[in-house]
Amino acid sequence: MGYPIEMQESIRKLEATRAFRLQQEIPRLTPEEKTRLLEQCHPDFRPDGMRPVRVGPNKGQRMQNELVDLLEAYSRIDPDRVDLSRIDYDVDVLVVGGGGGGATAALIAHENGARVLLTTKLRLGDANTMMAEGGIAAATQPNDSPYLHFLDTIGGGRFQNKRELVWALVHDAPLIVEWLKDLGAMFDTHPNGDLVVSFAGGHCRRRVHSCKDLSGMEFMRVIRDELWNRRVEVLEFSPAVELLLDERGRCAGAILMNLETREHIIVRAKAVILATGGIGRLHPNKFPTTNHYGATADGLVIAYRAGARLLHMDAIQYHPTGAAWPEQMLGQLITEALRGNGAQLVNVHGERFINELETRDVTSSAIIREVRDRKNGVRTPTGMEGVWLDTPLIDIRGGEGKLDRMFAGIVHRFREYGIDVHKEPILVFPTQHYQNGGIEIDPEGRTDIPGLFAAGEVAGGVQGRNRLGGNSLVDIFVFGRRAGQAAALFAREGPSPGKLTLEHVRRYHRELAAEGIEKGRVSPLLLPDYTRPEVKERRYS
Ligand code: FUM
Repeated sequence: MGYPIEMQESIRKLEATRAFRLQQEIPRLTPEEKTRLLEQCHPDFRPDGMRPVRVGPNKGQRMQNELVDLLEAYSRIDPDRVDLSRIDYDVDVLVVGGGGGGATAALIAHENGARVLLTTKLRLGDANTMMAEGGIAAATQPNDSPYLHFLDTIGGGRFQNKRELVWALVHDAPLIVEWLKDLGAMFDTHPNGDLVVSFAGGHCRRRVHSCKDLSGMEFMRVIRDELWNRRVEVLEFSPAVELLLDERGRCAGAILMNLETREHIIVRAKAVILATGGIGRLHPNKFPTTNHYGATADGLVIAYRAGARLLHMDAIQYHPTGAAWPEQMLGQLITEALRGNGAQLVNVHGERFINELETRDVTSSAIIREVRDRKNGVRTPTGMEGVWLDTPLIDIRGGEGKLDRMFAGIVHRFREYGIDVHKEPILVFPTQHYQNGGIEIDPEGRTDIPGLFAAGEVAGGVQGRNRLGGNSLVDIFVFGRRAGQAAALFAREGPSPGKLTLEHVRRYHRELAAEGIEKGRVSPLLLPDYTRPEVKERRYS
């Protein structure tokens, strides 16, 4: 397939400016310029993208429309028709979510003596972790320190991060790299064995550690192996559809749904850890997404109904470089590590327009401005527009073989479509990538609800209003570990759960009804619905 003729004309212009661009320095934007750019172009500032939620602990706060739809919905469970006296599993710690955060939490809770059940909506490992490319941020180098990592993370988060969470993140990060190495993760190394570290936007030091551009898959491989080796019990295809509380308001388990039979499974647990990931598959502002098929906000919904507060759910991350061509790859992640290793963003005329190592919110906004406002985008035959990511620069700058060595996944995926990224650039446009906020936690992953913990993307406060590259993989492991340990301790030392109840669901339903919200929509969503409207109409009429 490759690039059609009309796109190739723009590639010629990009090639003609390459020698000049190699010498070109583009200064960083001032804080005022950044603010202006964000307000003009970042999708979070679109007036129609959000609305206030009418019920629950964050009542009155603006959030993404697609999320509000799910928070203003009724439970899949009729509280009056579930028999809570029939307990199917009775454990110390229930972990909900089979990505890196959940698997880590389960492992550590088990290591701390808890009887653990991990339940997951799809298969163990079907999660965003598996699709993470660029790597994990940690201050492991002699010229770096957790202090610098802390400052960068806070600045990147627009100073809205919870400081104590950021401190936990950066303090534990180097230990996490060692832990992953001990588990057998094969990090990229120099010939002398030193770890390869790359830049990512907003980091003042090279601190992103990678395993080619398949970092998440490699980390998931070793953690999943460890779970199996230790015989931690795992239930697949069994999402949690509601949390259970006891009569004192403590979290005391969950109701799961067997996706195949639709039967309910009642789990009583002394502590529950939510690690269900983000909201990408709700497609905020109708953007494509890098996210896994299961990223449908389930954990946010059930925690909210049980009374947990959410933070920064009006701050969504759009990754600057989602694939914009070929159409089949629309929205797929094109790792930031390419820019961290010298690839440049270039418009239709072969010009750079932003320093490629600005933070993601700023870089995405600059791309949107270049395409939408300045009309400098490259148009595809289907009408999609984007800008070039000049990937051949990686080998030009880093020596032949660097693309193959560090970006084998990208090289392979584009080769399938007749595009050789050693010689040709990639067309990119922002794509939804991350929810910056989530359920509010403390440094041990505790939420407002006793016995309920959260870790990873479902949790909020760590990343402020904008996460830096590499800070998600470290987040899931740092807070997965911390939540696993704290939950095991809670289960050991806290009182046993009292009588299981769904009273909170009844209360929530009453709140919905009082606001005039009619029955009809249920949540959590569990799986996205991509049925075209005309097909739906045919099916139901
Ligand atoms: O660009 C990337 O590889 C993404 C990394 C991240 O979200 O941390």
